[in-house]
Amino acid sequence: MNTKTFTSTEVRNIFRMDGRVAPQTLFNAEEREEIPKAERILRGTVSTRLWKLLDLPTIGARFGFLTKPKKQHILTDYNVKGGILKSTTCLNLGRTLALNGIKTILIGLDAQQSLTDIALPLPENMTLDQAIEERLGLYHLLVDGFNLSQVVKSTDLPTLDVIPETQELIALERHMKEGNRYEYFLKDNLIPLLKDYEVIIFDNGPNWTPLVENALVASTSVISPMACDFGSYQAIKVNLQTIGEFASVMKLNWDAHILIPTLVDKTKLSQQIYGAYQIQYKDQVLPCSIRRAVVGQEASVKKLSVIESSPSSPLAQDYFEVITAIWKRIETGHGT
Ligand SMILES: Nc1ncnc2c1ncn2[C@@H]1O[C@H](COP(=O)(O)OP(=O)(O)OP(=O)(O)O)[C@@H](O)[C@H]1O
Ligand SMILES: [Mg+2]
Repeated sequence: MNTKTFTSTEVRNIFRMDGRVAPQTLFNAEEREEIPKAERILRGTVSTRLWKLLDLPTIGARFGFLTKPKKQHILTDYNVKGGILKSTTCLNLGRTLALNGIKTILIGLDAQQSLTDIALPLPENMTLDQAIEERLGLYHLLVDGFNLSQVVKSTDLPTLDVIPETQELIALERHMKEGNRYEYFLKDNLIPLLKDYEVIIFDNGPNWTPLVENALVASTSVISPMACDFGSYQAIKVNLQTIGEFASVMKLNWDAHILIPTLVDKTKLSQQIYGAYQIQYKDQVLPCSIRRAVVGQEASVKKLSVIESSPSSPLAQDYFEVITAIWKRIETGHGT
């Protein structure tokens, strides 16, 4: 249970309220019980309001920087490369949408469990065997007859749920491949169960697999992080071609395929690669980026988004810009 609390300044910072919402407007909303009541604590002689983490989505729904979606968005976070912030962007995007009051579910498709590790708390008060038994995933839901409520894990944000990765993802892949049209397995069998979510986000491993194909087929938009380092730059053309060819063969019609420059640093090479991405992929690449910064790793260790964990850091501003831009593109269908 996350006991982190937030002052009104921090809440204003998280939702980027400056210039948009006057401080008194927030307090008036609290007075009128339109948002949860803050606890009062005395700091010196001054009484300070403190809101709990689980209060934030209600505040975000009223005063956040993202509007309610016009339709359900199903997003795949993928590029054929490891360590480029796929899982980190899933966590940050998922939590930021949830903070803004948007009902979101994160679904891990990487048997390495990188999303589960950063999105869910470690099991407490149980033996290791119990912890393994208790962890159910897509295989249990789609093959073994478990219910959605048995498989979905809630988080410390009431608007964010997670379907964790389990080792049975490999068995799920084998099961899918036994049928016809295996690329449609998740679209046909999973998506209809998730009608209550406004946004579904699939995190993927770094390799091209049947699960990745399924995520791409089920999705309405795709986001591909691309690191601003030489290895990623070398690989990116072929990687995007692979995704593009698959989309064309399968006749997929995404609202947007968005490229996010990640791990940008001040070196000349990184800046050069960032510039090259902007020119070569100008229709798809965002005009903003996610910098390389230690606070990014620290937030994931705390299982929080950077916007919650270090709201006034430059990296939080990066995420604010990137997520606002993603939201605009998927809502308007720009950026295919
Ligand atoms: N802004 C940042 N700057 C530097 N490192 C970061 C930043 N944000 C996160 N990291 C760290 O970078 C590492 C790789 O990130 P992540 O796991 O999201 O990549 P990935 O693309 O999902 O990798 P994989 O393909 O292995 O699943 C992680 O250890 C993460 O904590
Ligand atoms: Mg990952």
